[in-house]
Amino acid sequence: MSAAALLGAISGVGKDPVRGGYSRHGFDRVELDLRAWFTEEAARRGLGVETDRNGTLWAWWGEPGDDAVVTGSHLDSVPGGGAFDGPLGVVAALAAVDLLRERGFTPGRPLAITVFPEEEGGRFGVACLGSRLMTGAIDPAAALRLSDPDGTTLAEALAFAGLDAARVGRDDAALARIGVFVELHVEQGRGLIDLGAPVGLARSILAHGRWRLRFTGEGNHAGATLLADRRDPMLPAAGVVLAARRAAAAVSGSRATVGRIIPIPGGTNVIPSTVDLWLDARADDDARTRAVVADISAAAAELAETEGCAVTVTEESYGDAVHFDPTLREDLAGVLGGVPQLPTGAGHDAGILAAHLPTAMLFVRNPTGISHAPQEHAEDADCEAGAAALADVLAHLAR
Ligand code: GLV
Ligand code: MN
Ligand code: MN
Ligand code: MN
Repeated sequence: MSAAALLGAISGVGKDPVRGGYSRHGFDRVELDLRAWFTEEAARRGLGVETDRNGTLWAWWGEPGDDAVVTGSHLDSVPGGGAFDGPLGVVAALAAVDLLRERGFTPGRPLAITVFPEEEGGRFGVACLGSRLMTGAIDPAAALRLSDPDGTTLAEALAFAGLDAARVGRDDAALARIGVFVELHVEQGRGLIDLGAPVGLARSILAHGRWRLRFTGEGNHAGATLLADRRDPMLPAAGVVLAARRAAAAVSGSRATVGRIIPIPGGTNVIPSTVDLWLDARADDDARTRAVVADISAAAAELAETEGCAVTVTEESYGDAVHFDPTLREDLAGVLGGVPQLPTGAGHDAGILAAHLPTAMLFVRNPTGISHAPQEHAEDADCEAGAAALADVLAHLAR
């Protein structure tokens, strides 16, 4: 079956009528429905599906085993995200298995498709949650205490998904199963459009992290409180949005984004008592990323003091820059006939796994150059080119 037809089969699942696009989040009803759909599609192909301790799905072609060739991606999205970020890598893996079967290929090495949960951190705030748990990049006790905007903890969400919260955490047995990991993904920028190529290989991922800034002031009446009497945490929060742009502009190649702000209690006629603001910052390396965040944190402290407010800055997740395994990259470039290699500013489970084993990524051209938004796109022909490239790569690695 083609990757496009498989994507079409889930195109109605998890549409967000308010934001547009899709809202599919880790272990919510929508993601669980998508996981059930994947399990059925895998079973239809005779792949044996397992769920590991941290909620990652594994669909095995043949017997499960160590040192396997593993491919896959995720089925969750950002709030109001596109149809391709995540699902394209999953459907391309299924389509690649179909292509390999049509070619009469049988793997000479265990081969599996994985679906990692909550890659975007759209529900619990930590990006790549499944792969961070698997690799021990996040403390399981701290992870279980993470909560979603409704106050549901990760522990409760895991129980809802039928998983045992007591068993989450670093899973060396699962890691040992992955000999090499290849993730196919829609490109999230303009690289492949500009190069006129449908498919490319990832070279690197920026260092990136997320920080929560909590500004605390004094909740009060919007009409009755004189300006001079206010301690309004929205003011330093607003200043930090501007400071983030200025700080990133001062460090070449860096990016800083404020995409989420929650005033508490959140009434039009109420001066908030607290404002929570999340900062996403990325740069070429650790030092530059830290410099941008230090600059913004200093601005936050100064702005808070001017308004008589307090501020705390908490790192919620972080990952250093990733340079994908050069030997594997050159090997796959040879298999694919010298496709372009390009960096990306987006994070991926493949980037988390890269600290433990050889990983690679294939990108599929995105004609809009837009991602994490409903306009994210890939033409059917490019999706098929991606699936065919993935099939070639899997055949090579599992020969
Ligand atoms: C994940 O897609 C990220 O880059 O934030
Ligand atoms: Mn994403
Ligand atoms: Mn993704
Ligand atoms: Mn009143």
